[in-house]
Amino acid sequence: MIDFKKHLLEALQNEVKEMSIEELEKLVEVPPNYDMGDYAFPCFKLAKIFRKAPNIIAEELAKKLEANEYFEKIQNLSGYVNFFVNKKLFVESVLKEICKKQDKFGATDIGKGKNVIVEFSSVNIAKPFHIGHIRSTVIGNSLFKIYKFLGFNAISINHLGDYGTQFGKLIVAYKKWGNKEAIEANPIKELLKIYVKFHDEAESHPELEDEARAWFKKLEDNDEEAFELWTWFRDISLKEFSKVYGMLDIEFDSYAGESFYSDKMPQIIEELNEKELLQDSKGAKIVDLEEYDMPPALITKSDGSTLYMTRDIAAAKYRKDTYDFYKNIYVVGATQALHFRQWIKVIELMGHEWANDCIHVPFGTVSLEEGTMSTRKGRVVFLEEVLTKAVEKTKEIITTKNPNLENKEEVAKQVGIGAIMFQELSNNRIKDYTFSWDRTLTFEGETGPYVQYAHARANSLIEKAGIKVDENVDFSLITNEESLHLIKELEGFKKVVIDAMHKNEPSLVTRHTVDIAQAFNRFYNSCHINVEDLELKKARLLLVYCTKTVIKTALSLLGIKAPDKM
Ligand code: ARG
Repeated sequence: MIDFKKHLLEALQNEVKEMSIEELEKLVEVPPNYDMGDYAFPCFKLAKIFRKAPNIIAEELAKKLEANEYFEKIQNLSGYVNFFVNKKLFVESVLKEICKKQDKFGATDIGKGKNVIVEFSSVNIAKPFHIGHIRSTVIGNSLFKIYKFLGFNAISINHLGDYGTQFGKLIVAYKKWGNKEAIEANPIKELLKIYVKFHDEAESHPELEDEARAWFKKLEDNDEEAFELWTWFRDISLKEFSKVYGMLDIEFDSYAGESFYSDKMPQIIEELNEKELLQDSKGAKIVDLEEYDMPPALITKSDGSTLYMTRDIAAAKYRKDTYDFYKNIYVVGATQALHFRQWIKVIELMGHEWANDCIHVPFGTVSLEEGTMSTRKGRVVFLEEVLTKAVEKTKEIITTKNPNLENKEEVAKQVGIGAIMFQELSNNRIKDYTFSWDRTLTFEGETGPYVQYAHARANSLIEKAGIKVDENVDFSLITNEESLHLIKELEGFKKVVIDAMHKNEPSLVTRHTVDIAQAFNRFYNSCHINVEDLELKKARLLLVYCTKTVIKTALSLLGIKAPDKM
């Protein structure tokens, strides 16, 4: 594809030898509206160098930089030099590239040879997969796909919460109040029930907490009964979770969760000891972080059992040894920011330079209209229920609007689940938000179904036209503002994906997808596609086809399907 900006910079540098290409590049802007061209170069910084007023410099530069094959017009306007790209060349270059690259348009090899771990979802065994987890799951899945698309060797890890004192609690609760058949029939709800009961009872019988700690210690010491119960809890929970992952079409390369590190912690504790980082605190072992304005990192409790923190340190070390990562990314709620700062600091103090490559990608909290979610109090909304409801509601809409649609069930799944995912990925990830059934189930405005519909419309336009779409068209026929705007949005996709990777912010892709769909709808409303003039029809159809291709790719980076009909 023609890099107009590069040509612009080269031409500029010929005239402004005092600045490097990189310095010039930083100054180049995209003007707010079309009358000002496609690029603008502000001359204010040059005033000092040339000892002239910016508007005079702009005027002189515009005269020297004559129009050429890449730029059809170069003008000055109040201290700026405005560049108008050669439209035909621009249209041709973008559309040809999309045709050539197809679903790889926007892909790069900048990540070649680099391993990036994206840890996400990381749900807890025996606890509900609730709507609070959807954020990590959906954001992480999208980041994973974005890294892959840009050529990184991405590895997805589900760091299951399958270890810790809560398993001691669960064992105690099960032995006291559990019913095997009921749990087999309805694992998560029943396990949650006895877990909630444990906390209620423990308020008046605090000795239950000691029992729970003792059972977790037994589990860590490989006690047979403890191990058997724990394995059972884990297996039945995973079976339940896999239903949700199946609905979301998400897979993991590894489910190495917290328990996976149970035999890798002694080594870590030894290393901490050797490096004289451990201190005794009433029998517990800690790393003091006062110097860094943080509370101490708790490594072992007084009974010798390990903690969430210890397992994160062991996991990071294991990942470095196993994957030699370039980046090790954790998509985990912002509420755990301190935890991450603490253990990453410990790794740094251990002398591991790669501590800097461990990156916490936080996101805001989801609360319910009735307050914050609380597993212990049983106040949760199950994700499976949300997804199922969204699919049902979509089916109703399809049944009224498009009763003869083939494949109704499948499309309802793709649209209903896509709507939930899209909503999760629309806001800047750090923003907190309140879950509302109503908002989740409206399909109007800047939503997933809106974008999917633009894709389906593009598809039906191509089908209806009944002619072969290819790149042998007269590109000079694509001239109106709506078309050019759409092509700019398509071209902009490439940069957006790279920005999304650098900022670990999939919402940039989501919003750009909406921009493309809106630009497409404006184009569609301003230009007839099925016109008499065959050459014009071919040219416009090609643009429709390119739009369909890019929307599909963009949605796929969000983990969302693009049905051909809906
Ligand atoms: N299981 C934890 C939770 O639900 C999240 C785990 C995050 N990952 C980590 N490596 N600490 O809160």
